[in-house]
Amino acid sequence: MYGIARRALLWASGNRWLKERLPRYRFMQRAVRRFMPGETVADAFDAAAPLQAQHRIVSEYTKLGENLTVLTEADAVADHYLGVYDGIKERGLDGEVSVKLTQLGLDLDTEATYAHCVRLATRAAETASWFWIDMEDSSYVDRTLAIFERLRREGHERTGICVQSYLRRTPADVERLLPLGAAIRLVKGAYDEKDDIALRSRGEVDAAFVSLAVTMLRSGKGVRLGLGTHDVRLVEQIAGQAAASGIGREAFEVQMLYGIRANEQRRMAREGYRVRVLIAYGDAWYPWYVRRLAERPANVLFALRQLLP
Ligand code: FDA
Repeated sequence: MYGIARRALLWASGNRWLKERLPRYRFMQRAVRRFMPGETVADAFDAAAPLQAQHRIVSEYTKLGENLTVLTEADAVADHYLGVYDGIKERGLDGEVSVKLTQLGLDLDTEATYAHCVRLATRAAETASWFWIDMEDSSYVDRTLAIFERLRREGHERTGICVQSYLRRTPADVERLLPLGAAIRLVKGAYDEKDDIALRSRGEVDAAFVSLAVTMLRSGKGVRLGLGTHDVRLVEQIAGQAAASGIGREAFEVQMLYGIRANEQRRMAREGYRVRVLIAYGDAWYPWYVRRLAERPANVLFALRQLLP
């Protein structure tokens, strides 16, 4: 049942007809507020400031939007993020930026995308921040890794990449990335992939997540590791295995989405975990929001409750 609901929601997240209509409904707009403080980056900064001041929870920003169709749109996206780095600095936030390469034109022109990445990674370094690259569906993995590796080779050290534990190829990719002293965000993976490409069962994906995290922590290669998950049980399992090797919880960061398991975020920060929340904003929230529903179909009930007065 869970699997059917998840697949239906993932299908709905990519459906153009629904994408054009559902966001117009007030109940959808109210429901998305749970995971998104507002549509502007100023809304995101306003939400981040008290988290940092009161709970030592730091932040990361992403403007929602995927798969551009005109390359000039990518120029505007890159300019926007350059301004986000400046805003982070002006507001005194410990904040970073996370971007999907398709937002920077990966479907249209790889060289132009790379040039945008260089601009963003350069501004990240200038403002003592970081530039994180999200991982999209499996058809993008090779191109995304190639851009990341090129950035690192060309000295853009404040650049990180996301890898997905559900992909069968990820252990080999991590082996390749480790010698770069890379910054890696490990997530379970959010897309609907075929069996020959991705692990299907929750148990297998979780086991791969723990094994990859522990491998990176024990590698001694100075990797900056972010555990991008709300699965507190897995984080504690990883912390336990790391502790057994004399590695403390300050060796990694727990990275969660704004509004998901907020109590756990605060509890973990109190208990000495380094916690960062990824705050999304922007008006193109529909596919992203429906993928969040797919992660936990029970959230659909919350969305439907917004239909009530
Ligand atoms: P899981 O889905 O097993 O959830 C564990 C527990 O957390 C659940 O039992 C539930 O209690 C709670 N929970 C999880 N999701 C919830 C929700 N939506 N609402 C309420 N409770 C929820 N993916 C990707 O493919 N590419 C990427 O670049 C990224 N980037 C990224 C960055 C960050 C910071 C995070 C946190 C996640 C991503 N993801 C991602 C998404 C990731 O792949 C995955 O789909 C989600 O994190 C959900 O999986 P969990 O690891 O949270 O575990």
